[in-house]
Amino acid sequence: MQKTLVIIKPSAIQRGLVGDVISRFEKKGLQIVGFKMMLLTDDMIKIHYSHLVDKPFFKRIKDSMQATPVLILALKGVDAVEVVRNMSGSTNSRKALSGTIRGDFSMSVQENIVHASDSVESSLAELKRFFTDEELFDYSPLIMPHLYSNDEY
Ligand code: TYD
Repeated sequence: MQKTLVIIKPSAIQRGLVGDVISRFEKKGLQIVGFKMMLLTDDMIKIHYSHLVDKPFFKRIKDSMQATPVLILALKGVDAVEVVRNMSGSTNSRKALSGTIRGDFSMSVQENIVHASDSVESSLAELKRFFTDEELFDYSPLIMPHLYSNDEY
């Protein structure tokens, strides 16, 4: 089982899409194992988007991510990193496929509703960045036999 990190961005909070976004993950069969609300600090954003820190548009991304508090989720499932990334869709929402969160709910590159870890390596670093061990919960969904065959997990 993998765990992955999702940030529900201010664009989703302002537009009242939080329930829709979480509902998609729940309906897919992903397990919520961590959940919190926070205002991202400058340092958190610099680390989280370190690959973009030198870009001319970094300040507008930072301002956008600090426009409201964000919701941070840890989701668990078999191949969760790839599944959640695929459900999120391409960075540019105008090119994201219909059926994905970005493809269905947004028109923007920046205001693209969610962040999702892009690899297993980033998921491990991002989960550690936003959750302590005590904030990540270990419990067994009762519906497990209806989510997977017993040789899948
Ligand atoms: P990135 O890590 O490249 O994409 P993703 O979120 O799909 O992993 O970029 C991080 C965020 O920065 C992206 O979700 C939106 C914003 N962004 C822009 O506003 N303009 C850009 O040209 C890029 C590359 C990203």
